[in-house]
Amino acid sequence: MGLQIGDIAPDFEAQTTDGPIKFHDYINGSWAVLFSHPKNFTPVCTTELGYTAKLKPEFDKRGVKVIGLSVDALNAHEKWAQDIKETQGHSLNFPLIADPDRKVANLYGMIHPNASDTLTVRSVFVIGPDKKIKLTLNYPASTGRNFDEILRVIDSLQLTAKHQVATPVNWHNGEDVIIVTSVSDEDAKKKYPAGWRTQRPYLRIVAQPRG
Ligand code: BEZ
Repeated sequence: MGLQIGDIAPDFEAQTTDGPIKFHDYINGSWAVLFSHPKNFTPVCTTELGYTAKLKPEFDKRGVKVIGLSVDALNAHEKWAQDIKETQGHSLNFPLIADPDRKVANLYGMIHPNASDTLTVRSVFVIGPDKKIKLTLNYPASTGRNFDEILRVIDSLQLTAKHQVATPVNWHNGEDVIIVTSVSDEDAKKKYPAGWRTQRPYLRIVAQPRG
């Protein structure tokens, strides 16, 4: 059984393009996104890394540290970073883990042997300030991920960590949310004095709480 939501994200030491890290020290009470790339100098990965570099201010705004991984050596990462800058127009502005012995990839179950024995799939782990895994995703190598969706999920995770709400289908930050069923109508009245819409007793819609 691989890593699951609620598990502690395993700690590790690794070389990165920003120097050596110990993962738990690197997280240091922040939210984090750890994501794998099958291999250096591959087209889909190059676009993903450029786009994530472009989105970095959005991750920063949310207090999220982003860190990529590819199963190649550090000197190859440095050469690839040049290509990413030249082709995507955004320089790598977050660490990229060098994992040539696949130590981290194996620790996190990023290698799916029936897909490839040597390359990782496109895994994503969103990790909370408590170091627990909040979300896992696995995409095949041929499909680039949607990093706007990862930001959207982080908005939901950060909101639901603070308030007793859940977010409905295709929700975006600022839109109405759902009062979780464990909150009674009596308690909801105290939390939401402006009221909410009840479609079913289990489906209560309220404006997104602020703060
Ligand atoms: C890519 O990033 O384009 C890629 C990497 C590994 C396998 C297939 C595609």
